[in-house]
Amino acid sequence: MPSGPAPQIRKRVRKLLIAQVGHELGAHQAYMGIALYFERRSLKGWAKFFHEQAVEEAGHAAKIMTFLIDNEVRFELPALTGAPTSYKSAREAVEAALASEIRVTGQFNALADAARAAEDHRSLQFLQWFIEEQVEEERTMRALLDLLASNMDPFQAQAFLEDIG
Ligand SMILES: [Fe+2]
Ligand SMILES: [Fe+2]
Repeated sequence: MPSGPAPQIRKRVRKLLIAQVGHELGAHQAYMGIALYFERRSLKGWAKFFHEQAVEEAGHAAKIMTFLIDNEVRFELPALTGAPTSYKSAREAVEAALASEIRVTGQFNALADAARAAEDHRSLQFLQWFIEEQVEEERTMRALLDLLASNMDPFQAQAFLEDIG
């Protein structure tokens, strides 16, 4: 049996990282769907905001893919399930985004747990950036909900989006 060095990225962590590529691409699609919802309502500022968030999510997926490639992990891209482009209100759309961010935070916590349990220091180090990023991502969505809870309608609120993004 060839006795090369043990793989740097432990098996369970590898599986979760590949799944996370799918989750980030799913978030990309979900935010594109929200951007389209706002586009349809002629809320250009909101549409731009969520389009930019969508691009960020694709960047997160790319960051994980690069890490997998750098560590010689072979993988296929996970299948996506689709995303809605209709919501009852701006508030409902942003609530869906916050729920998605909270879910992603849980996924990174589970990943860090797995990396720690497997003594996979390389992955644990890599994951720190995402764990920090999630604090900001959740905060952004909560700030949007606060903005919508003010007396402004979504059209007026657009003037304040720059301060949040
Ligand atoms: Fe993300
Ligand atoms: Fe995010």
